[in-house]
Amino acid sequence: MTKITKAVFPVAGLGTRFLPATKAIPKEMLPIIDKPLIEYAVEEAVNAGIKEIIFITSHTKRAIEDHFDQNFELEEKLRSGGKNDFLKKINRDIFRDIKFTYVRQKTQNGLGDAILHSEHLIKNEAFAIILADDLIINNPSCISQLISSYDEHQCSVIGVNEVPKNETEKYGVISIDESTSTKSSFFLNDIVEKPKNNPPSNLAVVGRYVLSDKIFKYLKNLKPSVGGEVQLTDAIKLMLNDEKVVGHLYEGKKFDCGSRHGYVNAIKHLAKELFDD
Ligand code: G1P
Repeated sequence: MTKITKAVFPVAGLGTRFLPATKAIPKEMLPIIDKPLIEYAVEEAVNAGIKEIIFITSHTKRAIEDHFDQNFELEEKLRSGGKNDFLKKINRDIFRDIKFTYVRQKTQNGLGDAILHSEHLIKNEAFAIILADDLIINNPSCISQLISSYDEHQCSVIGVNEVPKNETEKYGVISIDESTSTKSSFFLNDIVEKPKNNPPSNLAVVGRYVLSDKIFKYLKNLKPSVGGEVQLTDAIKLMLNDEKVVGHLYEGKKFDCGSRHGYVNAIKHLAKELFDD
């Protein structure tokens, strides 16, 4: 059994839904109160035992690299001004021993293509994938729950939740083998990306995965499909011919911060914990 130590973060997407805010800054850098969205996702990974963060990025996303790098000038100013609380916020202890790796995805050909860009960094091991747009709040975190499920079942695991039937067309949707599934672990029969009609269930894929490195074999030969993009879902579907995949019904509250509505709700939710009014 391999320990999950690497997480891939596809962050090359354009963030058009947030224009003009995202004209000059990556959508992943939009703040949820005072912390950028991407930091919540990286924190989730690191707290789950991930040691290497692999960003699949693009030329418009340099601010993400800067955010996880050191800013000596700012640190020095904070230090000499005695502002140690802020110093801790920009130079976090939990990130000290974490390796950050950046791979450029030159053209945005979809999630499957983004993940394929990490192939040379993943060596005979299962790895995590986190889509930072999905902010999921829970302790233990969603990715921790998936890693526990991977340890238990020894196969790839994808995070799923129940959505209203009329919303299934926005997600990957799984079909399950009822006879072997339990309350929160569903063995997949099939998976389909954004079904227009007849969704196989109301169990939708969220942006958290723990996948076997076999996924690269299937990703390599994929043709673009839904939306003209290479879909990770299609590779998972092919993988089902050879191995088991579990859908894990995670516990937690999810905010789709790729949409303005979800983003504002995430801020409202976290603000309630911080402020009285
Ligand atoms: C991607 C996946 C989809 C999944 C979703 C979760 O879609 O392709 O299967 O359900 O993330 O957020 P996207 O939202 O990038 O269109």
